[in-house]
Amino acid sequence: MPRVTVIGTGYLGLTHAVCLADLGHEVLAIDVDAEKIAMAANGEAPFFEPGLEPLLRKNLDSDRLRFTLSFAEVGAFGEVHFLCVGTPEGESGRTDLGAVYAAARALAPHLTSPCLIAGKSTVPVGTARQVMTRMRALAPAGDGVDLAWNPEFLREGFAVQDSLAPDRIVLGVMSDGAASMLRQVYRGPLEAGSPLLVMDLETAELVKVAANAFLATKISFINAMAEVCEQAGADVLALAQALGYDARIGRRFLSPGLGYGGGCLPKDVRGFRAAAADLGVSSLESLLTTVDEINLGRRERVVALARQAAGGSLAGRRVAVLGVAFKPDSDDVRDSPSLAVCDHLVAEEAVVSVHDPVAMPSAARKRPELRYASSVSEAAEGADLVLHLTEWSDYRAIDPAALARVVARQVIIDARCCLDAASWREADWTVHVLGRPQVSHGADAACGRRG
Ligand SMILES: NC(=O)c1ccc[n+]([C@@H]2O[C@H](COP(=O)([O-])OP(=O)(O)OC[C@H]3O[C@@H](n4cnc5c(N)ncnc54)[C@H](O)[C@@H]3O)[C@@H](O)[C@H]2O)c1
Repeated sequence: MPRVTVIGTGYLGLTHAVCLADLGHEVLAIDVDAEKIAMAANGEAPFFEPGLEPLLRKNLDSDRLRFTLSFAEVGAFGEVHFLCVGTPEGESGRTDLGAVYAAARALAPHLTSPCLIAGKSTVPVGTARQVMTRMRALAPAGDGVDLAWNPEFLREGFAVQDSLAPDRIVLGVMSDGAASMLRQVYRGPLEAGSPLLVMDLETAELVKVAANAFLATKISFINAMAEVCEQAGADVLALAQALGYDARIGRRFLSPGLGYGGGCLPKDVRGFRAAAADLGVSSLESLLTTVDEINLGRRERVVALARQAAGGSLAGRRVAVLGVAFKPDSDDVRDSPSLAVCDHLVAEEAVVSVHDPVAMPSAARKRPELRYASSVSEAAEGADLVLHLTEWSDYRAIDPAALARVVARQVIIDARCCLDAASWREADWTVHVLGRPQVSHGADAACGRRG
């Protein structure tokens, strides 16, 4: 089996490194962040991901997984180098490829023998060929450096299972050798039935951004329906449930609410929109502009509803915010819709108290000025308004009658449309659910887990 390295040990890279080691490979992982490397080498994941830390420790103990800060060591060790660095949003929504090219520049001078670079980061179409040209120019091995693009589809919160048993493995390649090398790397998942799709580099790059653009469009579609339902006095949950029974549509990613966030969908939608503009494809550019606008509009809608529920002004009102992670089972607060709502609330001089089961440390690093509560009831103490902004299962287990005893006013906005509104109303709460009439009939149990 080829020896593999993983460059960049963030959400994607660390999970990839751990899972490849667990599949039996010898893995050496590198990052420019010395603190992350020290933590990982010590068996601690620098972020919350269910099941990751035990697997990290197991594979450190087996000596199959090691961490380093040295690109020379990585170059000497690896036959396949997975590029997993961040590709954040840059100027005008364009994808910032600074880390991709910096990693390529740092590694290339140490590539003295033939090897394969396998890009996993999400990049605009055309990037892979640029990376290859630049690396071949700098590497002593020259044209012996082959390149493939192998986009990643893991979901935070399910990252370990998605990496060990991917729903598909996409390989963009320029040579049969690259495809066969990666077949060896993924032998375990392939034998277990993961489908393999081999294609050219450009199509592989596009598969990832097209998938994210489609998912974002589905979410924004149902959120546009929520707006229609609010105007028409209809019930978006009942609508989504009925639409979802059509197998051509499907129920997943059809949950109305506060919209998408996180480190992928928002920046990938904007990056793809910018790429579409550069390619002169105005139809996609305008579609994705609308998708993004609908998504951001949900945050404003929640703030408007909060202002209205607070009697016209949020100034001096105590607001309890339940959930800051961009989605449950994650501590990721990158482009978190909840944090954006908090920013609006603070700007309107509300007194905000935040709770989240795991994401408070990462939120506190970004927004130290917010007040963080160690429990739901502490956050809700004396609150004029409660906002349910991340659909953690813990929040569905809240006893509305018990919470009623600590708040000043029993008013809740369910921006994720998944609390049992009837039981809250039975406990005398005023419940506002995005896209639903004040009193609804059925569909209360329609909110499943988001994919
Ligand atoms: N997070 C996800 O769920 C997910 C899923 C699929 C694809 N992706 C894609 O994977 C890529 C990484 O995303 P992430 O969420 O892991 O980001 P991240 O910010 O968590 O991790 C990126 C890591 O790269 C490191 N890095 C930056 N420059 C480097 C360099 N020159 N050399 C070595 N390391 C360097 C950073 O220190 C950081 O640890 C992105 O392109 C993203 O779009 C992410």
